[in-house]
Amino acid sequence: MSATIQPQPGILQIELYKSGKSAVEGMEHVVKLSSNENPLGASDAAKVAYAREMHSLNRYPSSDHIELRTAIAQIHDLDADRIICGAGSDEVITFLCQAYAGPGDEVVYTEHGFLMYPISTLAVGATPVKVAEKERVADVDAILVACTPKTRLVFIANPNNPTGTMISGRDMARLAAGIPEQALLVIDGAYAEYVEGYDGGTALVDKLDNVVMTRTFSKIYGLGGLRVGWGYGPRHVIEVLNRIRGPFNLSSAGLASAEAAVRDVGFVDKCRKENARMRKWLTLALLELGIECDTSFANFILARFADEEQAEACNQALANEGLIVRQVAAYGLPNCLRITVGDEASCRRVAHTISNFFNAVLSEPTIEGPQ
Ligand SMILES: Cc1ncc(COP(=O)(O)O)c(C=O)c1O
Repeated sequence: MSATIQPQPGILQIELYKSGKSAVEGMEHVVKLSSNENPLGASDAAKVAYAREMHSLNRYPSSDHIELRTAIAQIHDLDADRIICGAGSDEVITFLCQAYAGPGDEVVYTEHGFLMYPISTLAVGATPVKVAEKERVADVDAILVACTPKTRLVFIANPNNPTGTMISGRDMARLAAGIPEQALLVIDGAYAEYVEGYDGGTALVDKLDNVVMTRTFSKIYGLGGLRVGWGYGPRHVIEVLNRIRGPFNLSSAGLASAEAAVRDVGFVDKCRKENARMRKWLTLALLELGIECDTSFANFILARFADEEQAEACNQALANEGLIVRQVAAYGLPNCLRITVGDEASCRRVAHTISNFFNAVLSEPTIEGPQ
């Protein structure tokens, strides 16, 4: 580290983000259940749109994203002028922090909230304020108590990653109504499409001037590799965010694939139903094995083990079978593993491997103490 060349305040406090593992040493075939990706892949329409783009790779992409914004607006019944697209919803989160927070400001997020909230906050020199949850569910009253005259942003993922829990529309409205007037509420809907009948917070955005919603194409749409996300908010916010957005922040392949993906409503429905079916199956299988887990509203399950040691050992047992799940100690959950709901075969393999793991633990001879 140079003594004279120093980064901006806050940057060195950032813990490096570790993404979900995708390989096990010495193993050729693995099942990746560590990044909440769609096991069914992307829709065929999105793949066709992607392939079509190879004929014009020399051209810069659209700068205003009008076709994608129009498609999103039509499908979700929104105002296209109030949508902003980013390189993943990560980028929209970054824009929000850059635009609304700086040194001396506070950004509130929940105890087991997505790690990009504190990272993006520290990157702009602002102060992250972590608020305790109640049994792994966001606590609206505690969030309101944590807000101060310095609060500029309040992030809440609904459903939340990595807990999979969510709060009701009524609680969200109470939160929006209760935060200080200089603060924006950001509802992160990365997993909103997995919840049957849930609007992701759009009605609240339409009703209020202080609420923004973020969404992604990385999860149910199966386009994580292309980095496309979007935000929906009041006109004054979207106008501000567009000022700091790079003119060509999305690739032509990403834009075209996302547009086709959002229009393929049938594929999304199929993925939602299949996820719900396998999530229920895997949750029951885990509960039967004595592993506690909350009802998940997303495409993953947070499995709670007796302690950190047991979670670590089970993670290793799964890895030995080529099943990669996510350790979530960085989220303050060292005794847990977050398991993405995979296809049926993967879910069965996960349950089978964990069952074998417990059988092996139970049959281990107990070490005798000194006589
Ligand atoms: C809650 C939450 N928000 C946002 C994101 C970012 O997704 P992306 O940048 O791929 O759109 C994720 C990704 O895991 C997430 O879990």
